[in-house]
Amino acid sequence: STLKPFVDPLPVPKVARPEGLRANPENRAEKIPYYRIAAREVRVKVHRDLKPTRMWSFGDSFPGPTIETQSGQGMIVDWVNELPKRHFLPIDHTLHGAERSAPEVRSVVHLHGGRTPAESDGYPESWTTPGQVQTCFYPCAQHAAQLFYHDHTMGINRLNIYAGMQGMFLIRDRREDELELPSGAYDIPLLVADRLLDTEGQLRYPVSEFPERPWVPEVFGNAILVNGKLLPYLEVEPRRYRLRIFNGSNGRFYRFSLSNHAEFQVIANDQGLLEAPATVKRLPLAPAERADIVVDFAPMAGATLTMVSDSFDILQFRVAQKGAADTSRVPAVLHTPAVQLDETNAARTRRLTLDERMDDVQRSMGMLLNNTPWHAPVTEKPVLHTSEIWELVNLTDDTHPIHLHLVRFRILDRRRFDTFDYQSKGVLRFMGPVEAPAALEAGWKDTVRADPGMVTRILVPFEGYAGRYVWHCHILEHEDNEMMRPYEVLAAPE
Ligand code: C2O
Ligand code: CU
Repeated sequence: STLKPFVDPLPVPKVARPEGLRANPENRAEKIPYYRIAAREVRVKVHRDLKPTRMWSFGDSFPGPTIETQSGQGMIVDWVNELPKRHFLPIDHTLHGAERSAPEVRSVVHLHGGRTPAESDGYPESWTTPGQVQTCFYPCAQHAAQLFYHDHTMGINRLNIYAGMQGMFLIRDRREDELELPSGAYDIPLLVADRLLDTEGQLRYPVSEFPERPWVPEVFGNAILVNGKLLPYLEVEPRRYRLRIFNGSNGRFYRFSLSNHAEFQVIANDQGLLEAPATVKRLPLAPAERADIVVDFAPMAGATLTMVSDSFDILQFRVAQKGAADTSRVPAVLHTPAVQLDETNAARTRRLTLDERMDDVQRSMGMLLNNTPWHAPVTEKPVLHTSEIWELVNLTDDTHPIHLHLVRFRILDRRRFDTFDYQSKGVLRFMGPVEAPAALEAGWKDTVRADPGMVTRILVPFEGYAGRYVWHCHILEHEDNEMMRPYEVLAAPE
């Protein structure tokens, strides 16, 4: 684009304020904070020299307000659907859930990474229409972590999120506060999401060449927004900062680095602190993955540098000459897990394929999990308080970020296999060594990159609640077109 870069300061979304208190549904005697957050159409100034962009968001800006709480401090949120009656992005009525018989504008909110009772989890078919309210109880009985909330509506969630329906949700806790990591004004969330903008600064969502079936398998924008701004700048002091990076894009993968090639420390990912910081020069993030990094700007006093991803500029840092003394630190040990997970304790192992569907002229029709469409009966029924190994056997040519609701898990390993043998004979023949996850993937995860031609193994303790949840690819175009399945946590073996 010919737009002038780095003319807008980086906005930090405001923190949501509770409206008051309501009874805790798990313990009526206790009162917990209650929020009311409306989804509506907004106009967002993404760049100084562009007209405001029509978007759908929560509250009055994009991204929506950041919700913050302490570990164990539950809350109630009324998600109010105040959207217009008509959608402004191209619905594909051939997709399951988006048939012409369904209302055009539907919404249901999910807290990604939340250990949430099923009835508050935002099941994709439990949508509201304009004028309706979805009430959710979020217990937040989980470690400090960078979560996020977003639309999850069956058949149109890629459009609703692309329109802007996402925001950040931070859980803090004492254990983490005691580490004295950079905090307060030095702890900054960065929601990174690309969009395709036309010359008027309006959102374009690409369509296929078939008017009856506009769905496209993936979307890549020409504008990478950070907290809703295109090419913003941030003035920083020469000291440590904690940057909480969240890839909120529909389908773009990033490899973040600093233009001066400086190293930085990854201290947390999807579900909170790593056991030890990982020092890297490059941070890959698939859609829905998060990582908290600490950048020490002290050696860069007076300099200007840029956070980049491959050839894209993302965010400029202007480092002041001087600042207040930095008393933060990054301890060599961030946390010690209470129990070491042991894969030999897994109650069972499930082999689950990631598949591409072709039509008769070898055109991709989308992707499936375990060759099974969404509406088929539930096949994955883990028992509460047991662990399982899920082997994700990727038979497609793409990397898919696979996400399970409710739980957190560890990545065990990845291993190359012969996809041809698997498809023709059903035999799993490995072709390479077992690859351990990278240091920055070593913590608790809720989304994992399943690479093509690889078996990715995760170890999942099913904790929290029994009930019906979902698992899916977090490339939103895939998720909306059958790459999502229900699963059910059973209170006791069937
Ligand atoms: Cu980000 Cu089903 O979720
Ligand atoms: Cu996918």
